[in-house]
Amino acid sequence: MKHHIKDPALAAQGKKRIEWADRDMPVLSEIRRRFASDQPLAGIRIGACLHVTTETANLMRTLKAGGASVTLCASNPLSTQDDVAASLVAHYDIPTFAIKGEQTPTYYRHLNAVLDTKPQVTMDDGADLITLLHKARRAQAKTVLGSMEETTTGVIRLKALEKAGRLKIPIIAVNDAQTKHLFDNRYGTGQSTVDGIIRATDVLLAGRTVVAAGYGWCGKGFAMRARGMGANVIVTEVDPIKAIEAVMDGFRVMPMQQAVRHGDVFCTLTGDIDVLRREHFVAMKDGAIVCNSGHFDVEINLKDLAKLAKTVRRGVRQFVDEYRLKDGRKIFVIAEGRLVNLAAATGHPASVMDMSFATQALATEYVVQQQGKLSPQVHPVPQQLEEWIAVLKLKTMGVGIDTLTPKQKKYLSSWQVGT
Ligand code: ADE
Repeated sequence: MKHHIKDPALAAQGKKRIEWADRDMPVLSEIRRRFASDQPLAGIRIGACLHVTTETANLMRTLKAGGASVTLCASNPLSTQDDVAASLVAHYDIPTFAIKGEQTPTYYRHLNAVLDTKPQVTMDDGADLITLLHKARRAQAKTVLGSMEETTTGVIRLKALEKAGRLKIPIIAVNDAQTKHLFDNRYGTGQSTVDGIIRATDVLLAGRTVVAAGYGWCGKGFAMRARGMGANVIVTEVDPIKAIEAVMDGFRVMPMQQAVRHGDVFCTLTGDIDVLRREHFVAMKDGAIVCNSGHFDVEINLKDLAKLAKTVRRGVRQFVDEYRLKDGRKIFVIAEGRLVNLAAATGHPASVMDMSFATQALATEYVVQQQGKLSPQVHPVPQQLEEWIAVLKLKTMGVGIDTLTPKQKKYLSSWQVGT
């Protein structure tokens, strides 16, 4: 199998959309220009498991321009943009294994197809590729120079692997770079999650009560944007510091068991399991809409909901299922509890993915430069890469900033001056 996509006829539309996204990714374009002349990835085989979107296509083009041969599969069964997958194969000669709606066995066949290319560098969004390598293809680990991880959930899984003394490959925690999570997790998730909910349901958020479960960077972004649309936003949290932050940001904070009596729309963004479960569903209002924007489809316990339901009607709108409970109340679930922003919308806009994927591209170059010198641990992105990205992003936005005078610099490095 050289590639596996839904329909080659979608390629022309995919190409137009990839080019449209590229207009809003100036930092990545700049890296692509340099990569094309310097060839820092010459001869390197890269295997990537990412959401197959227009923005990811531009990252793949950049790695290829740098001299790498690249193979791509989906990091979620529902996030693939089939036209983009078709264009990657037809126009960019990038073998792609991804079909929106693929079942779990196909999903894993695609991951294995990427690992069959014997990649020397890998890239994950959620750590499925590296986990598969550690579980089923351990002998291959010694041929991998390093791997990049894009998301919070993936970094948590990989740190657990490291803590268990089982990590065999150096990992660069791209998610933890400031140029990634401060912008992608907050402004990207904030906008794209609201976008997914609206595309799926057409619901007016103004005047509705929206419950944001979790107040990490993604939860913060979503709560802020839902409020911006006029919703009354309730935040639920388990971390006392984050809960205080939410209160001081002006949100109502309460336990989920209380929030379910008020909420019209619920979105989970915690990274943990069973955030919405039986005891919550039984107390929800008729017509409640529930969805998830965390990486895995574990945050909403759909088995509990199915047990409570008398009937389930699939596809009452595209991506919306209706669960009718025994007492007649209805609960609507978007995208089967999978990432609502990528399943029902097109993920984060290009302008914010520009920074995330610029960080990915430079981290890849760094791993190749360091060949053999990185230990099998979870490493941060080097600070100078982040600074370079921030400076260039500001420049492309036409924003200037101040520089310290020599006197100011001296003051900041001295201890004598006080009251
Ligand atoms: N994660 C969230 N949004 C994304 C996008 N547009 N492309 C790739 N990964 C994403």
